[in-house]
Amino acid sequence: MSLHVRKARLSDAPVIQALIEPFARQDEMLHRGLGEICENIRDFVVAEADNEILGCCSLHVDTPELAEIKALAVAAGAQKRGVGAALVRACVEEARELGLQTVYALTYRPGFFEKQGFQLTEKSTLPHKVWNECVRCNKFPVCGEDAMTLQLVPAGFTGNTPMVQEVENAAKDPMKV
Ligand SMILES: CC(C)(COP(=O)(O)OP(=O)(O)OC[C@H]1O[C@@H](n2cnc3c(N)ncnc32)[C@H](O)[C@@H]1OP(=O)(O)O)[C@@H](O)C(=O)NCCC(=O)NCCS
Repeated sequence: MSLHVRKARLSDAPVIQALIEPFARQDEMLHRGLGEICENIRDFVVAEADNEILGCCSLHVDTPELAEIKALAVAAGAQKRGVGAALVRACVEEARELGLQTVYALTYRPGFFEKQGFQLTEKSTLPHKVWNECVRCNKFPVCGEDAMTLQLVPAGFTGNTPMVQEVENAAKDPMKV
């Protein structure tokens, strides 16, 4: 299977909704209306093989430091072939490029996220606005979702302190100090 993960287009919105819906009906995910998916289409990536969309995932920025990975769904017939991992990898990569410090997921599948390097985190450590969608859930206010977080190193980060970088830059171009 040659898998390709790409940013979603508006024309993908009905497929994204159809991917999520079976899991939403089983109360494993939130229902996502077509309008909501279109409004947030720039958050979504899709995984494609042989011109068929097998899965979707969304990266939603909450604060300048924090973003949520959500609406992750892989078609039942395409699971356990690395599609979910590829989707999460693409979202994490984008989060790094954006300069985010942390990504998190609220999930009934902590084992899957652990495999992607996430760690179980005490829910109360996440900011309040993280819970704004919970009121839409049938299980609200009691749910068994786990909070999983991944700390990121921004793209291009060298590990140097700003001071060290300034000294290095000055050495390269003395006129720039
Ligand atoms: C959870 C889900 C996205 C995983 O997608 P997938 O394509 O089957 O996962 P992958 O094949 O990429 O699995 C990657 C790794 O995670 C493991 N894994 C997959 N599902 C797992 C689970 N439920 N628990 C523990 N580990 C899991 C795989 O065994 C694999 O391990 P490996 O790297 O050692 O081989 C998919 O099962 C799904 O869509 N579930 C229904 C909707 C849902 O629960 N979404 C998550 C909402 S946050």
